[in-house]
Amino acid sequence: MVKHGISVVQWGPELELGIPEIDEQHRRLVEMLNEFYRELEEGHKHEAARRFFEELEQYVNEHFTYEEAFMRKIGFPELERHRKTHELFKKLVKEELKRYESGDEKALREAVALALSWLYTHITRTDRKYAEYLKEKGLL
Ligand SMILES: [Fe+2]
Repeated sequence: MVKHGISVVQWGPELELGIPEIDEQHRRLVEMLNEFYRELEEGHKHEAARRFFEELEQYVNEHFTYEEAFMRKIGFPELERHRKTHELFKKLVKEELKRYESGDEKALREAVALALSWLYTHITRTDRKYAEYLKEKGLL
């Protein structure tokens, strides 16, 4: 249920990894989703969609690059597997954008669902693994 002024997506401890730069970037995704819902609620569907896709594409490029460099820096052994999930997500976002641009309205809902499931599966499980690795090493 979308209510005015209320965040649809809430930041919570399950999303927090304890790595400040990365937590901040993950919070940005939560904000992007909330901004999208806000704009949608104001009735600006096309603007909301355009901005959402634009920002999401830029976000994944920048954030994934940062995260992969971070994992490389800490010597995280599962980097390659993790990187592949990033590549897949980027590809899916691009495909949804293309579908939306060619007039498929469903692609917008699917892209939002994709971003939400990313938050609650990738960040809470996959990203948590490198945070746990850091903890094991006594670095976090
Ligand atoms: Fe990741």
